[in-house]
Amino acid sequence: MNVLAINGSPRGQNGNTDILVQAFLSGVRLAGGSTNTVYLHDKTIHYCTGCFACWTRTPGVCIHQDDMIELLPMLRQADIAVIASPLYGNMLTGQMKTFLDRTLPLSNPAIVEIGDEFVHPPRYDDGVFRVLLICNAGFPETHHFEGLKKTFEISTSGPRSQLAGMICCAAGPMLSIPGMQDANRWYLDAVIQAGKQVVESGFIAAETQSLLDRSLADKPGEYANLVNAYWERISDSPSSPIKSSPVEGGIPIAPSQGVQSVRDLLSHLPDSFSADAAGKLAAVIQFAISDEEPGAYYLAIHDGICSAFEGVHASPTMTIHSPAQVWMDVCMGRLDGAGAYMAGKYRATGDMSLLMRFGSLFSERRNAPA
Ligand SMILES: Cc1cc2nc3c(=O)[nH]c(=O)nc-3n(C[C@H](O)[C@H](O)[C@H](O)COP(=O)(O)O)c2cc1C
Repeated sequence: MNVLAINGSPRGQNGNTDILVQAFLSGVRLAGGSTNTVYLHDKTIHYCTGCFACWTRTPGVCIHQDDMIELLPMLRQADIAVIASPLYGNMLTGQMKTFLDRTLPLSNPAIVEIGDEFVHPPRYDDGVFRVLLICNAGFPETHHFEGLKKTFEISTSGPRSQLAGMICCAAGPMLSIPGMQDANRWYLDAVIQAGKQVVESGFIAAETQSLLDRSLADKPGEYANLVNAYWERISDSPSSPIKSSPVEGGIPIAPSQGVQSVRDLLSHLPDSFSADAAGKLAAVIQFAISDEEPGAYYLAIHDGICSAFEGVHASPTMTIHSPAQVWMDVCMGRLDGAGAYMAGKYRATGDMSLLMRFGSLFSERRNAPA
């Protein structure tokens, strides 16, 4: 079986869509199929002008002399075409839509009643055209794919086409978050299985499909916090999306057994909190942790109590932006906090007086950050 994947992500090989596509194709190869991937961002494909020359003056041939000249024969020769795209505005990318529009030369202009509907029959007798959809979306809920899935069901409902399956992965950016490989493994394993099953039986098995229909993020709130922390880290702009639409509330962190990570460390900071030093202080200290173990956490201080949360607070008093290792070293006394700050190893935004008070607020700590 010859499977042609067409990837319509502008991010091509660096995108989340391609992680799914390559997992699917590896399953195809495991079952003995052959595979090929076309990245539309490498191709020059002009918009369909709607001139219908491919139906009239030059049947089967478009007016544009571009990369569709090589792609249409590849599509015709494939046993299955994988249409792969990220979800853009609840649909496919513009690149993929343009590609699909440009397949018009493959159909015949006549409107013919076949079965219980009217269709444009295929121009060539290539057998049944088999399609599989691969999509991924930034939002964590699966309902965002409903419109696209319906479109594919309708587009392949004719007697000469067939939908082999739909792999629609909600919370797709999880696929490329460093350190999430283990958490994503169950989904990618199901995608590989789907590739094998499509070669072996023509379709994705129901059991596999039910896994693929689940979101990668089983806790949408935590996923939103993770993604928002990412945007926070890479954006220095005051109009950063995280600042204008923060996720309200966080998830309380229970003190961990040991201290292996920044999360563990922050979970213990309330233990060393000094109510006397805090007095009437009401403040939120947000931590935007980057690099080895990215994450968002905050300490909420009020009425002489300090509590630790995972997540992004709506209006922190001060935010500490730090690589995980730097903050671990500062808190464990391996790095001088003030020196590290002056050296630009971490930075703080908001009410800087809190940074000055950090040492006295968390008096049990072996070393203050500043
Ligand atoms: C212009 C644009 C529109 C998008 N629209 C949606 C959308 O409607 N729903 C959604 O869940 N994600 C949306 N996203 C997020 C992408 O689907 C998500 O980032 C995806 O993982 C990108 O895949 P890629 O890395 O293969 O390009 C959009 C992204 C962009 C750039």
